[in-house]
Amino acid sequence: MGIVIGVFSAKGGVGKSLVATNLGAVFAAGHHFPTALIDLNAGLGASDLLLDLEPERCWSDLLPVTAELAPQHLNLATTQHDSGLHLLACPEFPDAQANLTRESLAALCTAFRQEYALTLLDVPTGMGVINVAAFHLVDMRLILLTPDAPALRATQRYANSLSKNEKPVGLVLNQYGRGAPVSPKEIESHLGGRLYATLPVDQSAVWANVSYGQPCALKQRRGLGRALRGLSKTVLKVAKRSEYWDHNGQLSD
Ligand SMILES: Nc1ncnc2c1ncn2[C@@H]1O[C@H](COP(=O)(O)OP(=O)(O)OP(=O)(O)O)[C@@H](O)[C@H]1O
Ligand SMILES: [Mg+2]
Repeated sequence: MGIVIGVFSAKGGVGKSLVATNLGAVFAAGHHFPTALIDLNAGLGASDLLLDLEPERCWSDLLPVTAELAPQHLNLATTQHDSGLHLLACPEFPDAQANLTRESLAALCTAFRQEYALTLLDVPTGMGVINVAAFHLVDMRLILLTPDAPALRATQRYANSLSKNEKPVGLVLNQYGRGAPVSPKEIESHLGGRLYATLPVDQSAVWANVSYGQPCALKQRRGLGRALRGLSKTVLKVAKRSEYWDHNGQLSD
């Protein structure tokens, strides 16, 4: 059985999609782990652009069959990236979000757990029904934030309002650079948890990633690419501690 990892944030634009696509590509590269990414941002998601894919199907196509999801449904609905990552893209129109219920998301998570070692959810920002449902349905949560007081306070309120249980929560600090108003140590002490990773501001890596759809974690030896690979190793270590995760393997170097 595989695990589902949700990528969340209290504030928008902190790097969820960048991190989710890069983690997915690193996990899948070399075919070490069957990996999928579900972009839950109806109409507004850009995972396809970040991966330079042109998906013909999306999660809306699976909603009529959630009661009987079989591996061939997942195969037909996903689009494969060169790394081996399977993307279940978001629908084109934002109003499709209303069709995604807690029950259908739960069915998707169950089906993907059976088929993939690792499934990442790129979860929209906010505290809507689906966001809260995703927070409870996933097996591991990554919460992204940036090093500034508004993000820190929003993250604290966000984390406090979502009930806690024993599922792992990893904080990821993104866009950290010289002169940042809040340090990683301050963030850890304020939020009461260890950071899984501190990812640097790296405009050129991000622009190359966005322009050419090539995940920087697969392309760039240093900087953001290296930090993202470090995060993937930490996430994998936590996944391996999950009692029902039964996949073996190592990440490519
Ligand atoms: N480490 C980084 N260095 C430089 N730019 C970054 C970094 N991380 C993200 N960005 C930029 O920040 C912007 C937001 O990133 P991204 O779309 O991944 O965030 P998001 O949390 O998914 O946003 P949304 O809430 O809209 O879904 C993008 O323009 C991205 O290229
Ligand atoms: Mg996004």
